[in-house]
Amino acid sequence: MVTDEEIEYVRGDGTPVFLSVSSAPILDREGRITAAVITFFDLTHRKGTEQVLRSTEKLAATGRLAASFCHEINNPLQTLSGVLYLLGQSTGLGEAERQHLATAHAELERVAHLTTSMLGFYRPSPSPVDLKICEILDSVLNFYGPAIRSGKIIVEKRYDSEDVIHGFPSEITQVFSNLVGNALGALTPEGTLELHVIASRDWGNPARRGVRVFIADNGPGISAENRRRIFEPFFTTKGENGTGLGLWVASGIVDKYGGWLRVRSSTQPGRSGTCFAVFFPEQKVSTMRHTAITLDKSA
Ligand SMILES: Nc1ncnc2c1ncn2[C@@H]1O[C@H](COP(=O)(O)OP(=O)(O)OP(=O)(O)O)[C@@H](O)[C@H]1O
Ligand SMILES: [Mg+2]
Repeated sequence: MVTDEEIEYVRGDGTPVFLSVSSAPILDREGRITAAVITFFDLTHRKGTEQVLRSTEKLAATGRLAASFCHEINNPLQTLSGVLYLLGQSTGLGEAERQHLATAHAELERVAHLTTSMLGFYRPSPSPVDLKICEILDSVLNFYGPAIRSGKIIVEKRYDSEDVIHGFPSEITQVFSNLVGNALGALTPEGTLELHVIASRDWGNPARRGVRVFIADNGPGISAENRRRIFEPFFTTKGENGTGLGLWVASGIVDKYGGWLRVRSSTQPGRSGTCFAVFFPEQKVSTMRHTAITLDKSA
């Protein structure tokens, strides 16, 4: 009889090990078992890979489901927002009613932020175009203008490259909007936001040219423990004020363009801050599968 089964053992240090065991008897002329061949295969590594694949598939399926759900609720949300606006215009409202309206509006904004963040991965987009990174950064700064001015935040810009990349404006805007939004959120009044754009080559593959952008703030920084998790979906330290999707979405878009997104951060008092570096290769995005887009906060 030939057997083939998978067995789980526990090593001395407590870690599991998965083995595939096959055995087959060796018979003599009379059919008596004289020996057996037993083969062990260590499947631990393969199991780990399967596990990662399964969770990636689950994540993709969850994303699809969430995106279609968000798509459906987005229209009624916009109607609600319009109705609240009209109510706010009424003259006969007392202070209490205005407070209730403001609360309703703030809550609606939160839901809208969540849905637009989720939606992006599936919303169709117009064709890719040549984009000047500097212009996109300026439009993002323009969008955050009120927050920058009210906090007296200093913005230092160094645009050392006029290079263009080929892509979808909503996606590239999304990446920078999320990074700049995070930096502004981390800054205390009178903090500094630095934006630096340079023509560059891929650190990992110098043959690839592109544009590198640094977005740096001198906020409190990100602890080493949190740094490991910030690109996970729904990881946030902002409680109800954050969805934890910003960096996950941004890194998904950057990946799609064949670029990379890295972070350096320090929490050392007096020298704290965070710097995100993004690299976009100049290669044409039209050759890539187009699936990801997310909210264009400037829309
Ligand atoms: N510049 C930064 N300084 C300090 N912490 C940061 C910075 N950027 C990101 N983080 C940390 O990373 C976490 C995840 O960021 P991410 O943008 O994914 O979500 P969020 O900002 O919490 O919520 P959302 O972007 O959806 O509103 C943040 O909650 C924050 O703790
Ligand atoms: Mg964010």
